Amino acid sequence: MPALKPLKKAVLPVAGLGTRFLPATKAMAKEMLPVVDRPLIQYAIDEARAAGIEQFCLITGRGKTMLVEHFDVAYELERTLQERGKTAELAQLRAEAMPPGALVTVRQQVPMGLGHAIWCARHFIGDDPFAILLPDDLMQCEVSCTAQLAAAYRETGGNVVAIEEVPRERVNRYGVLDVLEDKGKLVSVKGLVEKPAIDQAPSNLTIIGRYVLMPEVLGHLARMERGAGGEVQLTDAMAKLIGSQPFHGLRYEGRRFDCGDKAGWLEAQIAFALARPDMADAVRGFLRNYL
Ligand code: UTP
Repeated sequence: MPALKPLKKAVLPVAGLGTRFLPATKAMAKEMLPVVDRPLIQYAIDEARAAGIEQFCLITGRGKTMLVEHFDVAYELERTLQERGKTAELAQLRAEAMPPGALVTVRQQVPMGLGHAIWCARHFIGDDPFAILLPDDLMQCEVSCTAQLAAAYRETGGNVVAIEEVPRERVNRYGVLDVLEDKGKLVSVKGLVEKPAIDQAPSNLTIIGRYVLMPEVLGHLARMERGAGGEVQLTDAMAKLIGSQPFHGLRYEGRRFDCGDKAGWLEAQIAFALARPDMADAVRGFLRNYL
């Protein structure tokens, strides 16, 4: 096998409309919703950096400029923090600062689907393998989920997507694996179907919002074939890679919270607050009042 190219790039699509979170998302990007005290986009970037990613591309759309501001240096804020002696807050801001030139944005003018959003990043991706993180899937993992995918990529080469099992009655909301061989942690794949009818789903193993893909997927996306919901589906383009490149699902270790969904976002607040030593007692205390 020729030497694998290292995984250094990540694409983060944030151009969706976030209709499930209206009216909160009317003027504000869904990815700026905080969980405890960090916006969703920050968790995704941190997770990618923990996997060794050095170059980031946000696929933005109308009303998403706040996401880019979030990664800028807030000069006036930093000076005020310094003057007021808030050194811990200042140190945290600086430690998390985005290195100059590491973040670029591409505009998806019309939200034509996730596949179309990824295709908009084609010049950024070039000839390199790349990760995709959908920031509204918030991961709580001991080892960064993207780092787990990167490790699997180094083992198998080719494409690796994070997967989880869902109850049969929910498979119609996801991209679903048609399994060639289930080896436990890794599952080799012979096909993929986006949002299948429940009785036609080939398995209950579904793709979550974390991927490592090879650049050849762009050639398939370029055809702009419409799939489920009339959108250009990433799953359909990925399915066309199977046979010519390795394609695996990875049962990642950790938990996922669907923060594009109100109940999922609320659950994430509780789970992340309970994991914080400075908040756990207070949260446990007030939760008792509601149960
Ligand atoms: P969702 O299916 O969650 O859609 O997109 P959405 O528009 O963000 O939210 P709802 O369903 O209306 O509430 C999954 C991911 O794909 C991105 C979204 O930003 C999100 O990260 N996406 C989707 C795009 O970037 N462009 C698109 O055309 C569609």
